[in-house]
Parts: sequence; C-alpha cells; structure tokens
Amino acid sequence: MTHAAPRPLRAEAPRSPLSGRLGVPGDKSISHRALMFGAVAVGTTEITGLLEGEDVLRTAAAMRALGAEVTQTGPGAWRVAGRGVGGLVEPADVLDMGNSGTAARLLLGLISGHPIFAVMTGDASLRRRPMKRVTDPLSASGAQFWTREGGRLPLAVRGAADPLPIDYVLPVASAQVKSACLLAGLCAPGTTQVIEREATRDHTENMLRHFGATVTVQDTPQGRVITLEGQPELTAAPVLVPGDPSSAAFPVVAALLVPGSRVVVENVGLNPLRTGLLATLREMGAVLRVENERLAGGEPVGDIVAEYAGLQGVEVPPGRAPSMIDEYPVLAVAAAAARGTTRMRGLAELRVKESDRLAATAALLAANGVRAEIEGDDLVVYGTGGAIPGGGTVETHMDHRIAMAALVMGLAAQRPVAVDDAAFIETSFPGFAALMNGVAGGAAIGPA
Ligand code: S3P
Repeated sequence: MTHAAPRPLRAEAPRSPLSGRLGVPGDKSISHRALMFGAVAVGTTEITGLLEGEDVLRTAAAMRALGAEVTQTGPGAWRVAGRGVGGLVEPADVLDMGNSGTAARLLLGLISGHPIFAVMTGDASLRRRPMKRVTDPLSASGAQFWTREGGRLPLAVRGAADPLPIDYVLPVASAQVKSACLLAGLCAPGTTQVIEREATRDHTENMLRHFGATVTVQDTPQGRVITLEGQPELTAAPVLVPGDPSSAAFPVVAALLVPGSRVVVENVGLNPLRTGLLATLREMGAVLRVENERLAGGEPVGDIVAEYAGLQGVEVPPGRAPSMIDEYPVLAVAAAAARGTTRMRGLAELRVKESDRLAATAALLAANGVRAEIEGDDLVVYGTGGAIPGGGTVETHMDHRIAMAALVMGLAAQRPVAVDDAAFIETSFPGFAALMNGVAGGAAIGPA
C-alpha cells in the first residue's frame, strides 16, 4: 500500500438526510493488543471482531515473524497459538509496521524483553515519527537500540537476555509509551512501574488482567501508578473486540451536521478513557443517546444514537485530550459547522501523529473556507453556523483521519470537498465510503 497510486475521493451533500443503523470495524487499539498478547500467552486465543485494516494486519504479520501461529478463521475471527511469555523467536527479516505507530511502539516493548535481534521499519509517515519516546525508557530494561537520526525508523533492536523491570514516569500522555514499558516488563522479574500524570486508554492493563497478569492501578497525587508483576504465565483467553469509538466518530459527527439526520452506530466501545469526543459534542449541544449499554469482553459497549443538531462553539480543556486524542480532526469539522468559536487546548501531541495533525486539520479547514488558527498548542476554529463553504481539496499527508474528517465535512458543506488520497483510510476503517453511502442513501462519497 505504501507505494500504491494515490486514490482521490470527494464527498458532497447527500440528497436526503443520513438515516439508518450501521456498525463500524473493530477497535484498532484492542485489535493490536489481542494479537500481541495472544502471541505471548500459553494456549490458543480466539479473537472475534478483529479490525482487518492495514495497521492490524501488519501486527498479525509481525507476530507470525516472531514465531506465533496467527490464522484467520472467518470474517473478523482470528486464532493465535501463543508461545508463552519469553517465547518469541528472532524474525528472519525486517519487520515492516507500515503506517502504524501503535504496532511499532508496542512491539518494541515486547521485543525488548526477549533475547532477539530485530530490524524495524515503516512507511514514510511512520519513519518520520519519534521512537525515542519508547527507546529511552526501554533501554533501562537492558535492550539496545540503533536508530536513525532523531531516534527514527528504521531501527535495530537487541532485546535483553536478562531484562530489568522498568520504573518510569511518562513525560507525555501516551498509552503507547505506557504499554511499551508494561510489555517489556512481562519478561522481567519483579515489578514494573509506570506513572502517568494524565490517564490514557487502559486497554493494555485490562487485557493483561484478562490473560491472567497481576496489574494494579492506584490514583495518587503524583498521578496514576500502574504496576505489573513480572514473568506472569499469561493464559490464552477469548477476546471480543468492540467497534472502534474513533471510527464511530465519523458517522456520529456526520449525522449531527447533515440536517434531518438520525443514525445509530451499533456496538461501539465506550471505555471512559475513550469517550472525550462524546462529552465535548454534548457540551456543544449534540443530542447523543447511548442505548443497549452492556459489558462485552470486559469493556463497556453500546449503540450511539446521533441526530442532527445545531451546535455551539466550546472550549475543550487540555486535560480531555488523552480521551479523544484521535478525534480532533473530526471535532474540528463539527466546530466549523457550529455557531461561535471553539478553542481546543493542549494539542501538542497531535504534531506527532500519522501527520502533523494540528497543521493538517487547520489546513483542511482553511482549504474549505473556514477560518482557523493555531495559537501555541491550541486550535481555534471560527464556526460558520452551519454554512461551511467547502469546495477545497484537502492534502491528507498519509493520514487516514484527516481523509475521513475531510470527507465528513464534504457531506455537510455547500460545495463538495475532495481529498488528494483516501488510500490510507484502509489502515483503520476499511469500507468507510460504502458504509457512509449506505446511510446516505446514495453515492455521496465517490471518486474525485
Ligand atoms: C493508541 C494510543 C494513542 C492513539 C493511537 C492508539 C494506542 O497514541 O493516538 O491511535 O492504541 O495505545 P499515543 O499513545 O501516542 O497518544
């Protein structure tokens, strides 16, 4: 996919309001973890609802290269025959993690605890992203890294033969860095400890417990203290992957913005550390109901009912960023349609996503006649009160969420919105255009 021809796409206002029910693909964070943890568990892990997007398929291939048996048994149904903690083997070739920062960083944690040598690379976007944030703490386990300038991929790693437990205070709010440290700690004796000042998604903690590890979490004045008892025997356990709330965000915002719409997104993960967007949209005046709320595979899930509403600008506090870090591009689109100004504060981390998402989001808006400014680490969007001009072409910079946010904007704008390359949508949301067209009652999203 890295070298495939760009796939331009455009979205225009649908002929009728969005209506109906849809399900979004499986949660990306949980899917990566299910494959990785299954590979170091004893026994066979059966996964249902796995996201079969490019990013997760890279993880599946990497786990195979590291010695696990990973097989697809049906649509979304996957089986992993694990090798037990410490049982991964040296890969015979370079591990190519494609576009996926989560795959790269979590895997570096896992490899750090094994006495193996590996070389890792990724596509042009991933090769620009910082890896020092994981190689620094992982070096304390005894693993060695050789990286390109600035700690970037490709890199080589030699995992520790006798790994030491890591004790680390996260300098950035990042579930990927937290998870990398915990995964290295699986192979180390004693207690691995990570302290995060702001809570980030806790799928690693939840799933490690689900596989039988002892993980404790304590809220202290210094932050959230997470500990893992090293060298557990992880036991294979079934994993039910809910729909990805970060993917559900796109049809939800589209329904809020297209007059007369009512859409139900079924079976969406509602882990409280992932639902910052829903809280923000409600503050903006959205009518969002959750039906059929239940626990599935240890995570809360439910059906989100979204109806058209006139939105108001709000200020989004910086402390909310970890719980909606991937949702800012589509929130910016909602803010563009709202009445008044929206200020999203504390977005420094957006600069190191699949693209510089802060710049790409501001450019997305500017290209479509919406005034937006970056002030320090804040994004300020001047709402149009429902009259987004549109008519622009958005550069996606190999970033799936920029592409989808732009296309959602096109559904609600006065003139169509085009994206230069929609190919990267396949990393997280295969079938995006078809699903959206399904509730739009026609081809509102199609070739540019
Ligand atoms: C993820 C954590 C977030 C998020 C990414 C998935 C994860 O990254 O942006 O899409 O699965 O742990 P950071 O931890 O770098 O913020």
